[in-house]
Amino acid sequence: MLTINAGQLGISLGGHPRLQQVSFQLHEGELLALLGHNGAGKSTLIKLLLGLYQPDKGTLEVLGDKPGRQPLSVGYLPENVSFYPQMQVAELLQYFASLKGVSAGRVKQLLSEFGLAHCARQPLQVCSKGERQRLGLAQALLSRPQLLLLDEPTVGLDPLASAFMYEALEALRSQGCSIVVCTHELALVEPVLDQVLLLSQGRIAASGTLAQLQQQADLPWRIKLPANGAQWWQDSVLQPWLQQQTLQFPPSLLPQLSQRLMQHWHCVDYQLQPPDLAQLFRYFLAGRSGPAALKEAV
Ligand SMILES: Nc1ncnc2c1ncn2[C@@H]1O[C@H](COP(=O)(O)OP(=O)(O)OP(=O)(O)O)[C@@H](O)[C@H]1O
Ligand SMILES: [Mg+2]
Repeated sequence: MLTINAGQLGISLGGHPRLQQVSFQLHEGELLALLGHNGAGKSTLIKLLLGLYQPDKGTLEVLGDKPGRQPLSVGYLPENVSFYPQMQVAELLQYFASLKGVSAGRVKQLLSEFGLAHCARQPLQVCSKGERQRLGLAQALLSRPQLLLLDEPTVGLDPLASAFMYEALEALRSQGCSIVVCTHELALVEPVLDQVLLLSQGRIAASGTLAQLQQQADLPWRIKLPANGAQWWQDSVLQPWLQQQTLQFPPSLLPQLSQRLMQHWHCVDYQLQPPDLAQLFRYFLAGRSGPAALKEAV
């Protein structure tokens, strides 16, 4: 079942095109990482998915309907979580629960699950950044949404709090919740994503699964060889690609080199290192926009 079907989306804001020809599909229980430079159009796309903006061009279906038609099925964590500062944590969650017709039991459960029980009676203005972000995610989850739209959920969080946030997302995804997460935390999102959408100046620079992007990019792959005393440099098949204990080679050579390692050297405990998400981000986006492009332009 499709959760989001977006085709050839386009929108202009402030007299400028902000998204052009953006297409993607998201299925139930999948996590899409929405990545790109500052100003690439990520938050704009999330607002289109929420129905807060209307596209000028293209088609967009969210959970089988127009965006914004099923608010209880879509949870949203905005880029800047700004709730009423005088309200207490539990009071705020209860307020949103009553708007969404959710029980007090669910409020209590989320306060405990997100480590907010200790500050439940605290006004938001004295809460820490991490407490406010966890509260933001808890309010997004109140009605057990089928689709979660998260705009930079870990910004300003300490490393443990960020890891907690992504563990929570992984658990939700495994329960069938579809997630779109816009983030600059590439190392954290990499292990949990199903798809990537890389935006550059409102257009798709690359998209697909991590494996598809690794194939599309013209970047070297690496194999770290075990230090087992084998004299790898004496092998004429491996030697051209060998740098110390590591083979560095174009992806097209992977079958040949891995076969050589297994059949000739009986070596199976090597570590294959395809390009990671940070390398792919740089490969597809470096120089296309953001600080590098600005530097070139001046
Ligand atoms: N309502 C608006 N009116 C005019 N311009 C807008 C509006 N909303 C966004 N923009 C512009 O559209 C572009 C994309 O903005 P957007 O907020 O989607 O970027 P982003 O990818 O989320 O960036 P960041 O990583 O900094 O959050 C920016 O140049 C922004 O100034
Ligand atoms: Mg943004």
